[in-house]
Amino acid sequence: MALLVAAGQGSRAGGNVPKQFRTVAGKAVLAHAFDALAMCDEIDAIFVVVGPEQEEEARRLLIHRPVAAFIAGGADRRGSVRAGLEHIAQIGGAGEVLIHDAARPFLPPGIVARLVEALKGAAGAVPVLPIADTLVTDDGGVAGATVDRSCLRRVQTPQGFRFEAIWSAHQLWDSPHEATDDAQMLQVRGHDVKLVRGDERLFKLTYPDDFQKAETLFASGRR
Ligand code: C5P
Repeated sequence: MALLVAAGQGSRAGGNVPKQFRTVAGKAVLAHAFDALAMCDEIDAIFVVVGPEQEEEARRLLIHRPVAAFIAGGADRRGSVRAGLEHIAQIGGAGEVLIHDAARPFLPPGIVARLVEALKGAAGAVPVLPIADTLVTDDGGVAGATVDRSCLRRVQTPQGFRFEAIWSAHQLWDSPHEATDDAQMLQVRGHDVKLVRGDERLFKLTYPDDFQKAETLFASGRR
């Protein structure tokens, strides 16, 4: 099953509407993300996490789609994922769960299959990409050390997990620091997280220009 988190405000993307509710290529970003997951044979149910005041709008945007349940999200992404996992636990749990950002309208073919395959040998799996740019530390406005990028990766979603492992990691999370993603929480519990090949088209809408990039990608038909 899959958990689609859509409870953010998306302030960096500009506009008054959260980015996952904005329209790209004639359809809400949330609906693109949902439909892409629904196309995957490996996924039998999709749960959608939304802000308490956003449920009505999310229901409208996802009308006629087989949403397993709408779940009220939290103040940060971790809280939203936790609420979703708690709901799934209450209805009997799952074997595996994919956690995906609603702000990623493209899900190229092959990603989910790679994650599911990797989960046969690990409690977690994430899609990653290499880093093209040179990385330096910022020492107060001047370039500091150049960081070796050859072993660094950018992590995308969806991320795949054995349900019990990620649910337990969320329940035990007590760090004062925010976890930037779920895989990190699993690693803290000593689980291996496998890396599978990601895809540039799986980018997250974050900044205003990203919407034009998404429009161009849809227009080119490269989905
Ligand atoms: O803000 P950011 O781009 O990191 O959000 C990633 C995903 O997490 C988005 O789909 C957003 O809607 C979701 N999110 C959430 N609940 C929050 C914050 C973010 O579901 N409180």
